[in-house]
Amino acid sequence: MSELVQYALAGGVAVITIQNPPVNALSPGVPEGILDGLGKANADDTVRAVVLIGGGRSFIAGADIKEFGKITSGEKKRGVGLHPLLYALEDSPKPVIAAIHGQAFGGGLEVAMSCAYRVAVPTAQVGQPEVKLGIIPGAAGTQRLPRLVGVAKAVEMCQFGNPLKVPAAAALGLIDRVIEGDLLEGAVAFAREAAGKPFVKVRERNGKLRTPDANAAIFASAREAARKRQRGLLAPLAAINAVEAATRLPFEDGVKEEQRLFEDCLFSTQSKALIHVFFGERAVAKIPGVPSETPAYPIRRAAIIGAGTMGGGIAMTYANAGIPVLLKEATRQALDRGMDVIRKNYAASVAKGRFSQEVMDQRLALVTPALNYEGFEEADIIVEAVFEGMALKKQVFAEIDSIAKPECVLASNTSTLSIDEIASATTRPHMVIGHHFFSPANVMRLLEIVRGKATGKEVIATSMALARTLGKVGVLVGNCRGFVGNRMFGPYRREAQFLVEEGADIEAVDRAMYDFGMAMGPLAVGDLAGLDVGWRIRKEFRHLEIPGVRKPLLEDRLAGMGRFGQKTGSGWYHYDENRRPSKDLIVEELIARVREEAGITPRHISQEEITDRLLYSLVNEGARILEEGIALWPVDIDIVYINGYGFPAHRGGPMFHADTVGLDKVLARIREFHDRHGALWTPAPLLERLAREGKTFTQEGSKHA
Ligand code: 3HC
Ligand code: NAI
Repeated sequence: MSELVQYALAGGVAVITIQNPPVNALSPGVPEGILDGLGKANADDTVRAVVLIGGGRSFIAGADIKEFGKITSGEKKRGVGLHPLLYALEDSPKPVIAAIHGQAFGGGLEVAMSCAYRVAVPTAQVGQPEVKLGIIPGAAGTQRLPRLVGVAKAVEMCQFGNPLKVPAAAALGLIDRVIEGDLLEGAVAFAREAAGKPFVKVRERNGKLRTPDANAAIFASAREAARKRQRGLLAPLAAINAVEAATRLPFEDGVKEEQRLFEDCLFSTQSKALIHVFFGERAVAKIPGVPSETPAYPIRRAAIIGAGTMGGGIAMTYANAGIPVLLKEATRQALDRGMDVIRKNYAASVAKGRFSQEVMDQRLALVTPALNYEGFEEADIIVEAVFEGMALKKQVFAEIDSIAKPECVLASNTSTLSIDEIASATTRPHMVIGHHFFSPANVMRLLEIVRGKATGKEVIATSMALARTLGKVGVLVGNCRGFVGNRMFGPYRREAQFLVEEGADIEAVDRAMYDFGMAMGPLAVGDLAGLDVGWRIRKEFRHLEIPGVRKPLLEDRLAGMGRFGQKTGSGWYHYDENRRPSKDLIVEELIARVREEAGITPRHISQEEITDRLLYSLVNEGARILEEGIALWPVDIDIVYINGYGFPAHRGGPMFHADTVGLDKVLARIREFHDRHGALWTPAPLLERLAREGKTFTQEGSKHA
């Protein structure tokens, strides 16, 4: 037997246990081990049924995702896949019972569906999440699932990849029995009942497949949903096609069609990008010099200062995670307004059916409004979210320094200011760190964790663990103006404005990025975030401007006209009462004036130039950020951009995208822009080196892994 799979007997029932921590992925050796166990069970006359169960925290989380990269890079040949195992399980004369806890995902569910029966604990989850990796089920999931749950549900599960909880799965017929007590005991008891009784193989259960005509509406609406909600993604459409094949073709032919579609997806850039993101989201938590055993402070109580846009959202984030939070404001009026926004946000979620009134009441009860620092001495963390201004931040930090207990983490939500300078207002800079949330803080997944010069390891470890508790992806970044995300956003939004000054339409600039896959274009984002925000920041940093270097002109002018974006009903666009944007003649006139003042003759600008200038401004700044050590790895930048800035995950993030284009090509284009537009486009030395050496950012990053 393989070491990864154990075999035991329990009174006439063979128990095959997978032991491949942490999540029992189907790594090499696991399928072979199960097959051996099954052979043994079928050869043993005392065995009447078989239980297949996972050791540790899950049944099987799927195929081993690490293997995919080896196949697509050519390092490894694609083997026979899981099919021989699945046919053996399904054709076993003695019934095999899959006993599920934790997750049966991807290949794990495909294994379970080849068994005669499936039993599960109520907390388990089942699903075909492959689309999230840019692939589709590759071991007949698209063929067996519709036979068990029906076509509509199978399409939904394979197209969106979301897991099902056991009660729902049982109602659909995917789980045969829910085991309330000990899973192994319950599964063995079930196996004894099933022993000797006839059962129908899943691949022969065609009752729920219906006819192609009857299913036509299901596939049409699935494709429509893909067009709207999965813009530009290949795998969801392939998944729909594969399930459709199940309804049109005999099982074996359907499997072949699934295989063909699976291979197309596996070798796609999208899949490579999404797998890069899967491992990237986990890699960001691994920090050199801060090993996983670094002690973290327990965070049981939080306190927040400032109940504005960010403070309110941060308070909700804590409450949503079950952590009680004090929310302090400067005035009664601001406090009432802040609490009112929180209440309204929660009520909107209840109205949309996201959670119940009871849950809303529980969460709201965790937020205690405050007008002074009473109770702050008990907080494990204090998060400052007052206006962006150094003098005010320092004053607030000096105040909390005098009240907070020694082991209290002091976090600032500043988006641009120096954490070191803020920390200097305290007697304990080692306890000070940046927690840069993104708006709306209760929704956006990114948390930039900003390490100051003095920030202690324990405070970093606490922040990383806390990010996870709060349901965020925490990325550790260094202290500089704008940190990683906003620092890169500066050149990106600068180029967007330059492009308009030089002749591009506002809509064309936004459309280029939308077509690339961004959630919104750069100018529309400005209107959403508020043009006054950048305007105020630029005023704060005016002393750092270099004379003679070209500056974008339009946003300061727009903000100066009181056009702050959506919140004032006008910015780059005009907004109606439903916040629908339209072209605004006043802005067109302003652009014409600004061009004239600056002596710019407008020219036609291609979509390609717009896309390249916007994306490569991100990449060039990203390379500098890496050189300076502000981001630890290229993938950290990718994770920041995907989770905080609406960068399409299927492009892998700006640095991965540059890799897929080829760094020599990216550099050549940046050099062209440098020749045409001057110093702002000076190529980053790291990019020049990697292009010269024929390397990628990913290869450079993995050196440190
Ligand atoms: N293959 C390889 N490694 C995996 C893995 C997998 N399928 N699933 C998880 N891991 C690794 C993670 O990378 C992580 O490694 P690390 O500790 O070195 O960072 C470790 O296992 C623990 O994972 P998480 O930190 O994510 O643990 P959680 O408890 O938060 O989540 C989980 C567990 C819900 C199972 C989550 O890991 C998950 O969703 N995994 C992916 C599941 C998936 O996509 N399965 C389908 C694979 S494709 C497939 O099966 C194709 C088939 O159709 C042929
Ligand atoms: P905001 O103006 O909406 O809220 C700030 C709040 O702080 C106001 O309600 C104000 O009354 C309160 N305040 C000021 N002084 C106070 C004091 N001494 N004690 C208690 N409350 C006080 O501002 P917003 O947008 O929430 O920004 C807060 C911080 O978050 C800033 O540092 C900003 O740079 C940062 N940030 C903002 C983002 C955004 O998209 N708005 C995104 C990420 C960070």
